[in-house]
Amino acid sequence: MKTAIIFASSHGTTEKVALQIQSELGSNTVLINLKQTKTIDLAPFDTIVIGGSIHAGQMQGRVKSFCKKNLVELLKKRVALYMCGMNEPDFETEFSNAFPELLRKHAITSKCVGGEFLFEKMNFIEKFIVRKVSGVDTNVAKINEDRVKELINDLKK
Ligand SMILES: Cc1cc2nc3c(=O)[nH]c(=O)nc-3n(C[C@H](O)[C@H](O)[C@H](O)COP(=O)(O)O)c2cc1C
Repeated sequence: MKTAIIFASSHGTTEKVALQIQSELGSNTVLINLKQTKTIDLAPFDTIVIGGSIHAGQMQGRVKSFCKKNLVELLKKRVALYMCGMNEPDFETEFSNAFPELLRKHAITSKCVGGEFLFEKMNFIEKFIVRKVSGVDTNVAKINEDRVKELINDLKK
């Protein structure tokens, strides 16, 4: 079974989770970064994992357009979804807005896996927003390893 992990990552956290999933699933798993790849041929893959992160309440546009553009084909595959974010009380709403309803219902597993604030990767405005909204000004690591493991286990079933 061939798996593609298709993701977008602004500061590297979604990519880190993608790499962890890839290392657990083994050699038949490829990573596809939506920032670097315009057209993706989904035909060779049985399983598609889609990951992205939330900034100012929204999933990356690249992830949203990928899902919209490929919805019909994705509904014929085994699909897993994950989202990185730091505002746990909003996860449900953020996740609902991030992925189309049909895809959410079709997915074999969906996880909000937390995230990180990495100040060295943020620009001036991002630092300002995070300080103001979250009240922190140093790095915070809150990847929920249990949820990442659950996602991996669901994919291995
Ligand atoms: C400017 C900024 C805005 C953010 N806004 C939100 C938000 O609205 N909701 C949320 O859950 N997380 C928010 N986050 C947290 C990110 O989702 C988190 O940093 C995530 O790990 C980023 O993953 P990435 O590096 O793969 O893009 C924000 C982070 C930054 C830097």
